[in-house]
Amino acid sequence: MFLLCLSLFLPLSVNASRPTPAITPHGFPADTVQVYTYGEPSSGGTGKLYMGREIAAVMKPSGAAWLDRPAREREEQPELLITNLPLRPTDVVADIGAGTGYFTFRISPLLTQGRCLAVDVQPEMVTAIEQRMQEQGVRNVVPILGSMLNPNLPPAAVDLVLMVDAYHEFSHPREMMTAIVQALKPGALVVLVEYRGEDAKVRRHPLHKMTQIQAQLEMAAVGLHLRESRDILPQQHVLVFEKVVDPE
Ligand SMILES: C[S@@+](CC[C@H](N)C(=O)[O-])C[C@H]1O[C@@H](n2cnc3c(N)ncnc32)[C@H](O)[C@@H]1O
Repeated sequence: MFLLCLSLFLPLSVNASRPTPAITPHGFPADTVQVYTYGEPSSGGTGKLYMGREIAAVMKPSGAAWLDRPAREREEQPELLITNLPLRPTDVVADIGAGTGYFTFRISPLLTQGRCLAVDVQPEMVTAIEQRMQEQGVRNVVPILGSMLNPNLPPAAVDLVLMVDAYHEFSHPREMMTAIVQALKPGALVVLVEYRGEDAKVRRHPLHKMTQIQAQLEMAAVGLHLRESRDILPQQHVLVFEKVVDPE
């Protein structure tokens, strides 16, 4: 209850002092909701703040090879994440901020009667996913070019949303999450994976990390509450959210 109240209060209080500009910096589309404030960008940041957090700059397509680096298996243990996801063969999974499809193509073989919707805002990433589908003969991946405001998912169609190392760079997190919630089937889960912001041993750019409390605040703002925090990965939070159900 405390988190919910704080999340409702925070966006109002910050905007009382600083109005949202009609045209946002860095070529992003204008905000559709007044929940952001603006300041000087820090290194690697956008200067756009959401609920006290500076939004990180979007990773450039030139960084795509880094996503598929062999050392990632050891550093992040992606298989451990995947085996801990509650996936059913019939599920529709949305991998939002899919990049080159690092997780998409690890998950899609498990969805023997389902499919994986791979969403990214950068056409280069969507092209990389299409190429990989062709090379590997994968048929149950659906590449989707999203916008900064909307992942362009079908309504009430998704069983599980996965966001790995992507949410912190959404330029419009409130709009994106509002649209994502509309795409959830009843009982669907949203799995947020971010480097642990409260863990000094995790050596990542500060804007590429998130604390659990910050994640809970931001998800509560769109009606998602924490169902489970899985402490399974060496460096990342695995936070499982679900829709708050209205009491009858
Ligand atoms: C650091 S990469 C992570 C990619 C992938 N999830 C992985 O773990 O390999 C972040 C990705 O999020 C994408 N992205 C940023 N903002 C986005 C948005 N609003 N909607 C969808 N994708 C977004 C970027 O284009 C980039 O490909």
